[in-house]
Amino acid sequence: MAGSLEGRLSVAMVEVSEGQEGAFIEIAREFSVIMARKAYGRADIVRDESAASTFYAVRHWASAAAAEACHADPDIHELTGRLYQIARVTHVVNGVRRTDSMRLLLDDRRTRLEPDRRSGFDRRMKDVGRAEGDRRKADRRLGPRRLRSRTAELDLVSAARRARENADARFSNFKVGAALETADGAVITGCNVENATYGLTICAERLAMFKAISEGHRVFTRIAIVADTPTLTPPCGACRQILWEFGGNLEIILANLTAEQATHRLKTLLPLPFDARLL
Ligand code: THU
Repeated sequence: MAGSLEGRLSVAMVEVSEGQEGAFIEIAREFSVIMARKAYGRADIVRDESAASTFYAVRHWASAAAAEACHADPDIHELTGRLYQIARVTHVVNGVRRTDSMRLLLDDRRTRLEPDRRSGFDRRMKDVGRAEGDRRKADRRLGPRRLRSRTAELDLVSAARRARENADARFSNFKVGAALETADGAVITGCNVENATYGLTICAERLAMFKAISEGHRVFTRIAIVADTPTLTPPCGACRQILWEFGGNLEIILANLTAEQATHRLKTLLPLPFDARLL
């Protein structure tokens, strides 16, 4: 029986905005009540004693199927939406592994992905990936095939808005935030950090991608980019190149601080790209 061999533990690191610890504990409590009531399993939080606003959200799933059902549950989506308003889920350090399919079920995003994803590295080194869509049969869609909820989109945008608050844009005063979603649902954020020499400035998008790579992530689905401008801010040319090389044909969500929002595909923003396959 696959069930008896299933991995059943997920751990996510949650960094809660200052002063929101009480709200986080309440969300975690509601989460654990739903987990128990619907027999999904058990949820606990562990506080990092050395960092008051860092918690570890530990989930012991009843089974991989229960994890899957939980990730699809609208009550859980509602809670996750609230969580992303006050916290950053920076790193998933473990996951539910289903021994039959080897699918990681780290959170709701993963269950919405097709299992045939290849890593950015494979795609960059060989002609195997989704990025070069025109090498595929006409009936294949570009990019990851995925169902996505509106809530998830808003979550990513609000993570980018929060990241933007950390921007160090002392020379341009143009603050940008980015939130990059990995295939297993982790959200890695970045903001622009400027430098007195100007040229050493790094954009929000590249910082998010480099952070993600440095933390071991290799497969990405979407990035949200937020600036405080009425006309939405698209990624600069350098960022398009880096996003393409490491993330492939990402979905790019542009937003500002109000309701304005637009979605693009990286391939359309970077036609005829250069990458390692051409070396
Ligand atoms: N910037 C980004 O971080 N991302 C973009 O997509 C456009 C530009 C930053 C770089 C610089 O710190 C400031 O915005 C003005 O160019």
